[in-house]
Amino acid sequence: PFVVTEACIQCRYTDCVDVCPMDCFHAGPNFLVIDPDGCIDCSMCVAECPVGAIYSADDLPPEQQHFIALNAALSQRPDWPVLPQSEAPLPEHEKWAEVRDKFEYLDT
Ligand code: SF4
Ligand code: F3S
Repeated sequence: PFVVTEACIQCRYTDCVDVCPMDCFHAGPNFLVIDPDGCIDCSMCVAECPVGAIYSADDLPPEQQHFIALNAALSQRPDWPVLPQSEAPLPEHEKWAEVRDKFEYLDT
């Protein structure tokens, strides 16, 4: 499956949602995740993300490996429902798009 990684945190552009044929994207307060059981590896979402947050699980940089388990776990939570269509990015997305280490800001 494909995996949403650190760059999404505090940006949450949601452009990815509109191209997914499987409605894989689940939303929390400041991050999206992909349900690995729904993902058919079409890769359509990758090019849509303005901050390059989406990777194939097979190509994840070593420091982002933990996002595989995180996407799987959060997508199962009832308080992380499917996001059916795109919406506005988070208010300070421009500022956060420049920040590299954002994991501590992930709101679960
Ligand atoms: Fe959806 Fe395809 Fe992205 Fe998987 S790779 S999350 S099926 S758009
Ligand atoms: Fe996140 Fe990129 Fe989608 S910032 S919400 S993975 S378009």
